[in-house]
Amino acid sequence: MTTAAAPVTPPSAAALHDTYAVGYDAQVRAYECYLAEVLFGLSYEYVRPGESLIDLGIGTGLAAGLYARAGLRVSGVDFAAAMLDLCRAKGFAADLRRHDLQSIPWPYPPSAFDHAVCCGVLHFVPDLAPFLAETARLLRPGGSFAFTTQWPAAGEAAPQPVVDSEAGGMAVFAHSPAYVAALIDQCGFSRRKRLRCFVGEESFLAWVVVLEERLPDEQ
Ligand SMILES: C[S@@+](CC[C@H](N)C(=O)[O-])C[C@H]1O[C@@H](n2cnc3c(N)ncnc32)[C@H](O)[C@@H]1O
Repeated sequence: MTTAAAPVTPPSAAALHDTYAVGYDAQVRAYECYLAEVLFGLSYEYVRPGESLIDLGIGTGLAAGLYARAGLRVSGVDFAAAMLDLCRAKGFAADLRRHDLQSIPWPYPPSAFDHAVCCGVLHFVPDLAPFLAETARLLRPGGSFAFTTQWPAAGEAAPQPVVDSEAGGMAVFAHSPAYVAALIDQCGFSRRKRLRCFVGEESFLAWVVVLEERLPDEQ
């Protein structure tokens, strides 16, 4: 008699990210990946000690830790419990929450933070429109948002959307720079900086945008 094989439930996206949490910091160094340092350096002129910052997809806190050392009050959100545990153990984050950033709304009130950072996360998110709109909702006018997107193989003129590749069972999306630039405008941000940076054979765009002051009749 043959028995039917039990259906295999695919691991959740969060569980896949959990699998590389231990050893993540060492791996980032081994890859000579300095995206966190690039975002911090590009956004440094906009942040001040004592201001608040939310790290979207904080992971083990590699980007957030730099802002904490510069005197910002850091909060973080991530859907991978193992990443959050490692970040919590570093002891610099004032508040850490577990939430899937593709599930809108995020668990914070409007205008809760001065600044936001999102390093090495958006290439896991196919549709950036709700993500950028929700980031704008969380920020105070004049606040900065520093983030990375993956550079598409087809370059500047790449169509949108683009599933670029797969990493460890996870789809990787390389968004067209024109699509990202249009969303920045639509969501009420103004673009301040854009820099292409390389990590091994891959490359990313680092963006810094600032939320426009709203006119009284738009509030
Ligand atoms: C490559 S790591 C980057 C971590 C950190 N930002 C850094 O710069 O080191 C990607 C992180 O994004 C998180 N992430 C990916 N998709 C997410 C989602 N939909 N909601 C919440 N977190 C997500 C993963 O759990 C992981 O911690």
